[in-house]
Amino acid sequence: MKASLIFAASAGAVLVALAFRPTAVDAQAAGSELTRQCASCHALTKPAEATVDRLWTRKGPDLWYAGDKFNKEWLVTWLQKPTVIRPGGVLWFKHAKPGEPRDTIDTAAVEKHPAVDAEAATKLADELMQLKSGGLVKEGAFKPESANAAMGKLAFSKLRGCIACHQSAAGTGGLSGPELYDAGQRLRADYVITYMKDPQQFDPHVWMPTLTLSEPDLQRITGYLMSLGKEKE
Ligand code: HEC
Ligand code: HEC
Repeated sequence: MKASLIFAASAGAVLVALAFRPTAVDAQAAGSELTRQCASCHALTKPAEATVDRLWTRKGPDLWYAGDKFNKEWLVTWLQKPTVIRPGGVLWFKHAKPGEPRDTIDTAAVEKHPAVDAEAATKLADELMQLKSGGLVKEGAFKPESANAAMGKLAFSKLRGCIACHQSAAGTGGLSGPELYDAGQRLRADYVITYMKDPQQFDPHVWMPTLTLSEPDLQRITGYLMSLGKEKE
């Protein structure tokens, strides 16, 4: 469009086009607080090459599918008062202290997340909600009517080993994955079920294993996770 304009138009039209261009660019840069403040640590677009190197050197979790992942209300609250989600930071083994009977996390060494005020949090949350997974997360994947949360709890804590990496209550569970005790507030059900089914579709190298869970297991574990953190409302 720009090129054809320049070739086809008279000298006057070209001058007009050039005069307008800088304004458009400035507006775009000023409009994206997210890009300005957050892109240094978070991928805001799907990485062209999702290498192991990228995963191991990234400073924060990916946000390119944030709009399919988070509840907006949670984002607005959390951005003002960030709490720890990954007990060991984005790469837990960097903060692990070898010990008996098991390794512990040097929590003091885990960086604090920058906080913003209420107005900025709302704007950032609005922008984050625009970032979509490109069809990975399908609406209606979770079917609440068929999910038995009590059976889901059993699968999570005993049968399927999720508890080895995830906490289902503060202090209960593993430290290498994100806590899930406020999953019901933080995450969207359709994302949770899609992620569990095949984490590698979000990042081919992420170390959550694909556990080949049956559809009923996926539904009931999601039902259980969605019940966590709800009592705080
Ligand atoms: C210095 C690096 C850094 C900057 C800058 C930064 N973040 Fe983060 N962010 C992190 C880390 C590390 C985590 C993981 C925290 C945790 O799991 O406890 C995180 C987590 C998050 C999460 C939760 C993601 C998830 O998957 O659980 C959101 C949302 C978020 N950041 C938004 C933002 C926004 C919006 C900005 C810009 C205002 C921002 N961050 C700037 C490092 C950063
Ligand atoms: C070997 C450790 C490990 C096991 C076992 C494991 N996970 Fe994960 N899980 C992870 C890691 C690592 C991530 C993603 C980390 C990140 O985004 O920084 C993750 C992410 C997730 C997420 C997305 C959460 C978020 O904040 O994005 C859900 C939901 C989840 N796991 C559920 C489960 C369930 C349910 C099970 C059992 C069926 C399970 N996991 C087993 C390590 C594990």
